Amino acid sequence: MSVIKCLYYVLIVLFLNSLNTTNAENITIVLNNTLTWGNKELYSDFVNVTANSTLQVDCINKNTNVSYIIFQVHSHLYNITLYNTTNVQGSSVYGTNVGLYSSVLPAIDTFFIWNQNEIDLILYISIHGYGLNDPIPGGCNMEFPVPISPYLRTQYNKDYILVDAPSPKDKMDVKCNSIDEVVLVFYKMNLPERSFDADVYFDGIMKMMTIDNIQENGEFIPDNGLHNRRMLSAYPGVGSIYVAVAISVANSSAYSVYAPTYTYACSPIEDGDCDVYDDALSQIILASLLFLGLFVCYYGHRFFKTEMFLIGLTSGGIVTYVIISIMADLDRPALLGASILSGICFGAIWLLFWWFYGIPLLAVFLSTLNVGFLFSAIIYNGLPGGLIALQSDVNFWSLFIFIMLTTSLLLVSMTLLSNILCCAILGAYAVVYSMDYYMGSSVRYIIINSVRRATVPKFNRAVLSPPFEWKDSLMCLLWVGLAMSGFLLQHFQNYGRPPFPPPPRSVRPGVPRSFYGTTVLGSGRQPRVVSRHPRSTVASERSPLLA
Ligand SMILES: *[C@@H]1O[C@H](CO)[C@@H](O)[C@H](O)[C@H]1NC(C)=O
Ligand SMILES: *[C@@H]1O[C@H](CO)[C@@H](O)[C@H](O)[C@H]1NC(C)=O
Ligand SMILES: *[C@@H]1O[C@H](CO)[C@@H](O)[C@H](O)[C@H]1NC(C)=O
Ligand SMILES: *[C@@H]1O[C@H](CO)[C@@H](O)[C@H](O)[C@H]1NC(C)=O
Ligand SMILES: *[C@@H]1O[C@H](CO)[C@@H](O)[C@H](O)[C@H]1NC(C)=O
Ligand SMILES: *[C@@H]1O[C@H](CO)[C@@H](O)[C@H](O)[C@H]1NC(C)=O
Ligand SMILES: *[C@@H]1O[C@H](CO)[C@@H](O)[C@H](O)[C@H]1NC(C)=O
Ligand SMILES: *[C@@H]1O[C@H](CO)[C@@H](O)[C@H](O)[C@H]1NC(C)=O
Repeated sequence: MSVIKCLYYVLIVLFLNSLNTTNAENITIVLNNTLTWGNKELYSDFVNVTANSTLQVDCINKNTNVSYIIFQVHSHLYNITLYNTTNVQGSSVYGTNVGLYSSVLPAIDTFFIWNQNEIDLILYISIHGYGLNDPIPGGCNMEFPVPISPYLRTQYNKDYILVDAPSPKDKMDVKCNSIDEVVLVFYKMNLPERSFDADVYFDGIMKMMTIDNIQENGEFIPDNGLHNRRMLSAYPGVGSIYVAVAISVANSSAYSVYAPTYTYACSPIEDGDCDVYDDALSQIILASLLFLGLFVCYYGHRFFKTEMFLIGLTSGGIVTYVIISIMADLDRPALLGASILSGICFGAIWLLFWWFYGIPLLAVFLSTLNVGFLFSAIIYNGLPGGLIALQSDVNFWSLFIFIMLTTSLLLVSMTLLSNILCCAILGAYAVVYSMDYYMGSSVRYIIINSVRRATVPKFNRAVLSPPFEWKDSLMCLLWVGLAMSGFLLQHFQNYGRPPFPPPPRSVRPGVPRSFYGTTVLGSGRQPRVVSRHPRSTVASERSPLLA
């Protein structure tokens, strides 16, 4: 019985397979749209291509103004093959966003779309027609396998994305021996963060097809001196669509658009939802950031020794992380482990420093330096890119450190308030950093981009353009809200207390203990002497957190 059943299934599977393999469909498209300057799309539609089958597309041109067409096919996640007439090396393209060129005369090529995947795909076909004067996208290609390749190629690693366009060909430039006849302009559009839906993707592709739509939805990517290549900071899990427009120098109303391309800077098929911090150590760090951040934001100044330790730990950890990444090639858990160990040492040293010397100004200086670093990082993220002067590391880091020090010195000139402010800002940022990861927004890249600039070779040419969507504005609001409430709460908590607790074991000679209770720059409050409230201060300082 079961043998018969088995045979039956085998037969059905064989039958279905044979159906699939012979399933070659034909469609014929009549190109009779009128073109405008801003919209040169002759045809666009979705087609279904079943698994392991080929779709044949014939085009009939009715528009006499068109001299060549660009035939594009866009697929979501799965690669397809597009070829003309015969599938030979040099006339077929493999990828998710592919295109081919065909002259209208004597006749438009027949195109074949081969879905070699084991699932049915919905594909978006778009045909654009251009006139005699328009440059041919990819017409002077030297790197891509197809002689005329009007499509782009993206590559990514964990830090950056590269978008490449083959050189276009101008009408005047018959032999491709000049590179200045056509300029390439790149645009980018972000998809909603952590959204891997096909609908969202196709909607984005459609918004980057014609020059009218590109100018409306796209964001210009400045040229950082890489010729036909653009380098962008990677935000894994945030889809982005790229397109290049070739504009003739001699006749600026002659242009053509490459087939747009996209990347999530991660592979949703393999990685699921593109969790980049999937190792256990990162998860533990993220979770502890949330709680330590809340603690520092609301109680950092009150538990001053704990704050000293945590600030030392953070600063030491970041510095070690940067130094090790520059010098050695470790994987993330090892790098994080080493940074944390070194951070703990730094924290302990900083704590001991306060313990024995107890100079408020110096103790607070490290916190303000951290805020200065954050401030410089925010400015770096807001820069438009394409600033040639800042591509030099010397210029960049001089400016970065200058802004950092200025912020820090401005803050440190009001010691008590600045410590409370730093606790609130840094603690709130730690909370936001960890929430940011779970929400899939991009506020954590403020720090990550600066660390990349320090550690990733050639990152000086990357354009940051961080995504700013509703989740990011929510995170920024949360940051501001937490920081303000933390500042007010700590200010209120500290009202009537000595501005700084006495260091437990001061070895500085000749400093009366009451110094810490009375004089602090700019605090116009009624001075109170520690000895009057010995119990309360000591009790709050004997926090069990570090003991
Ligand atoms: C499609 O066209 C080709 C050649 O013109 C022909 O061999 C094939 O049978 C056609 N397929 C279908 C499903 O019409
Ligand atoms: C284009 O061709 C289609 C099919 O032949 C026809 O239905 C349509 O009316 C034509 N459109 C124009 C603008 O000629
Ligand atoms: C071709 O271009 C001319 C002017 O440039 C325009 O008047 C005409 O409508 C165009 N023809 C088509 C089919 O778009
Ligand atoms: C493609 O298939 C989907 C269902 O899988 C269907 O909803 C859609 O109408 C089809 N589209 C075309 C163009 O056949
Ligand atoms: C796909 O089709 C080819 C022949 O066209 C066949 O050799 C191959 O086994 C098929 N693959 C699947 C997964 O059906
Ligand atoms: C598509 O092709 C690219 C390179 O050709 C490859 O890296 C990628 O893994 C392929 N994707 C799938 C889903 O097969
Ligand atoms: C097919 O595409 C290739 C590469 O673009 C091109 O060289 C060839 O002329 C095209 N046409 C035919 C009929 O092969
Ligand atoms: C410039 O290009 C436009 C669009 O292709 C064309 O209509 C126009 O005639 C061209 N001008 C010159 C001077 O070639």
